[in-house]
Amino acid sequence: MSGISGIQGLEPLNRAGEVEHLIDAVKALIVPFVRAADEAAPSKATGQLALNEEGVARNVLVESLKPEELVKQLALSLPKAEGRGEEGLLQTIQDILQHSVNTWDQGFLDKLYASTNAVGVVTELLLAVLNTNLHVYQVSPALSVIEKHTANALANLFGFTGPRAGGISCPGGSGSNLSSIVIARNTLYPETKTAGNVCASGPFVLFTSAHGHYSVEKAAVTCGLGSTSVWTVPVDASGCMDPSELRALVVRAKAEGSTPLYVNATAGTTVLGSYDPFEAISAICREHNLWMHIDASWGGPAIFSAQHRHKLAGSHLANSLTVNPHKMMNVPVTCSFLLGPDMAVFHRANTLPAGYLFHAPTDDGEIWDLADLTLQCGRRGDSLKLALSWIYYGAAGFERQIDGGFATAAYMADILSERDDFVLVSANPPPCLQVCFYYAPCGKIADASEENTRRTREMVAKLVRRGFMIDYAPGESGSFFRVVVNCQTLRGTVDGLVKALEAVGREVVQ
Ligand SMILES: Cc1ncc(COP(=O)(O)O)c(C=O)c1O
Repeated sequence: MSGISGIQGLEPLNRAGEVEHLIDAVKALIVPFVRAADEAAPSKATGQLALNEEGVARNVLVESLKPEELVKQLALSLPKAEGRGEEGLLQTIQDILQHSVNTWDQGFLDKLYASTNAVGVVTELLLAVLNTNLHVYQVSPALSVIEKHTANALANLFGFTGPRAGGISCPGGSGSNLSSIVIARNTLYPETKTAGNVCASGPFVLFTSAHGHYSVEKAAVTCGLGSTSVWTVPVDASGCMDPSELRALVVRAKAEGSTPLYVNATAGTTVLGSYDPFEAISAICREHNLWMHIDASWGGPAIFSAQHRHKLAGSHLANSLTVNPHKMMNVPVTCSFLLGPDMAVFHRANTLPAGYLFHAPTDDGEIWDLADLTLQCGRRGDSLKLALSWIYYGAAGFERQIDGGFATAAYMADILSERDDFVLVSANPPPCLQVCFYYAPCGKIADASEENTRRTREMVAKLVRRGFMIDYAPGESGSFFRVVVNCQTLRGTVDGLVKALEAVGREVVQ
């Protein structure tokens, strides 16, 4: 089938036929990719690779290659003249599938996201077909309504229930956190919007816990505040921000002639999954006129669960809150919201006159040109991904999935605590979906932290060859394992991972 590329004449258009044809051709490649992960799932329980029909071990998760080997194998070339058409396209897609990490594989337990699901795939397709830009209502009417409605429903769950509560979608959790800092500064010190980071009471200070995500520091750099404007608040033994330490640092910053501006509290820290004490932090913020932000990028979806939402107690006291459905909820990357109690505040902080884009406000005073609340101009319709998933599964479906994920993490922590060869770093049950631990043959980790780090790293590399991808993080006694289960992880996968860990452990410590 010939495409329309380059044809400028009078021939009738047949883009629909071309779309249909290519979707069918690509479907024949992507469905087997997903199916391979489904079919490999039962064998994960053995802790070994699945065998294919010819009895050959096949690593569905990833065929790991060094970058230079992959460069050779992909042999990517972008045509300088004529394109390679359908054949070149399908061959390239096949190569990409072959050399990508298959996040649908049960063994993918590495990062704070996992595969999407069927509704996620069709939503991405719909977004591609619409190819709409969510800056102004005129060009994205349905998606603007959906973004406002979905953000409002999500905001309500976190306790932002006032008439102007809502949110905006941002390009990821780091983007949402950055936006929250800009909104905080422009709201509490409105003159900064025109004059920059000048404040009569001294330079601004931001506070985040020692276990907070690095995006807060990155945002401070981006805003011209500099990384030294971010003060680290110590954590307690569970990795939660210590409010008395926060109070002491705020008082110290004032005494030193600085201006405390913003506190980032975390719901679900990146490594341990800890939830900060939001009510106590809010009291300090109110006392000292600080903006309170909650980074619930990872642990926020616990709000859907009657069993786990107590971890977010006090979320309604925040001035802004980030949540990333693309992490725990299997919504396609990226889907992140910055929520808040009052969208007029977001608008005042971010609006700029651009008459060629933003025209007259609506009669009802509602803001429908949503980019005017954000740091972006053109925006993808990421909020649709949560909306369609919510319509498909319902809040009850989300709750079952999230409860299942938490239960799987607790199941793994239980197994590890019963074995002689592991020492948990995580609490049992873990606060979120990460299970952190050291390999400790006969119940003892190595005295030297370098040795623990060596064991962990070598075991992680060997696990990939058995079809399990997990990660590690630095700790006081060297690097420890961080397994991130997800809402689709089966208990058999956990059983198999523990078997595989024991097997590779015996290989690295003889
Ligand atoms: C707690 C926390 N906040 C923010 C982020 C950044 O999110 P994103 O990767 O969507 O920018 C992460 C990423 O893992 C995170 O764990």
